[in-house]
Amino acid sequence: MAYTLLVRHCGQLLTLAGGPTDRPLAGAAMSNWRIITDGYVACEEGQIVAVGPMQELDVKQVTAGTAIIEGHGRVVMPGLVECHTHLVFGGNRAHEFQRKLQGEAYLDILASGGGILSTVRATRAASEEELLVNAMHQLAGFRHYGITTVEAKSGYGLDRETELRLVRVAGTAGHCQEARVVRTFLGAHVVPPEFKGRAADYLEFLATEVLPALRGVTEFVDVFCEEGAFSVEEARAYLKKAKEQGFRLKIHAEQLHDLGGCEMAAELGATSIDHCDYLTPEAAARIAQCTQGQTVAVLLPLVPLFLRQERYAPGRQFIDAGLPVAISTDFNPGSCPSKNLWLALSVACLKMGLTPLEALAAVTLNAAWAIGQEQECGSLEPGKRADILLLDVPMYEEIPYWLGENPVREVIIGGVRVER
Ligand code: NIG
Ligand code: FE
Repeated sequence: MAYTLLVRHCGQLLTLAGGPTDRPLAGAAMSNWRIITDGYVACEEGQIVAVGPMQELDVKQVTAGTAIIEGHGRVVMPGLVECHTHLVFGGNRAHEFQRKLQGEAYLDILASGGGILSTVRATRAASEEELLVNAMHQLAGFRHYGITTVEAKSGYGLDRETELRLVRVAGTAGHCQEARVVRTFLGAHVVPPEFKGRAADYLEFLATEVLPALRGVTEFVDVFCEEGAFSVEEARAYLKKAKEQGFRLKIHAEQLHDLGGCEMAAELGATSIDHCDYLTPEAAARIAQCTQGQTVAVLLPLVPLFLRQERYAPGRQFIDAGLPVAISTDFNPGSCPSKNLWLALSVACLKMGLTPLEALAAVTLNAAWAIGQEQECGSLEPGKRADILLLDVPMYEEIPYWLGENPVREVIIGGVRVER
């Protein structure tokens, strides 16, 4: 069969290929992946079938039916993978921004009935149609930034009906536009007012009344382990039950305190441990060892920025300790109302000590691993979905440099150019 799409004369083709295939990139492998100068990517239907330098292009496969996109000597790379978002919610929290600026802390706003609980009220009050319109709007924003796969957590319903609605809306939104949506159940976000003071009862309710309805629907179950949310012991008991029901595991942990949630979840075989601002390099090294490099630390550099925290995850030390690292925005109405994963990439370099090459691996292949999509996306390799970005810059070093800019010129998802 002839190529249906050819992207050619790519000045720097960031393949993200060449590392181990049985685990996320870790240590030196986070920067040792292959860059091809003056390269091409060829696709058939929705899949990549060949990648290489221009002089190796098989011209026999290029026919009158091949759509050709010129790289014009600029950077071409895989679509970004956004591996941690709270995509579906009602309202916003602009009204709390002022409180934050006056010095009120995130957990104090939550304890006063605001924060996550304020979004829960707005989400419960919204219709399914309103939630879908909002989610579609956010996904359009993500596509604009070249994000071609998006994880979407529930977690602003905190009752059976609303949580299932959020999962349904994320699924519908995924089917109504081009970017892939991968769903995670975060019913264990905080204790809802109906269960106030009875965290264990709420988790038992989720495990027995809600999780069974999500088997085969959401691949991941997540929990927020933090003061004011769930303790390590509560989270452990809940994650164990989720695992027994066949779910893969994620955790929000060590965001504001070092409670030990990351290590607990890693011991249970969590696919990812997210936030990690208070995770120590020593614990990171133990996690890398006990999971044999299978668990990804998802770092969220825009969250400490937006919450006015001094402390950022020591990403440099995590990588040096052998822990695979991914980067995400954590898009949500409370701790990061930004979908700009490029900005997160730059802040990871500036405040967490990642190199540009490591940060690029962290928003592509390692992010795909963090949501179980490593066979589908995250690198430009034959057999993967043709999710490809053409950027405005001529070399990868400029990507983190143009702080806050969107370097994306063209987005291709599944071999098709996306309108933006
Ligand atoms: O990942 N930390 C907990 N959950 C979200 C924030 C949710 C919110 O504030 O609405 C997070 O930061
Ligand atoms: Fe989050």
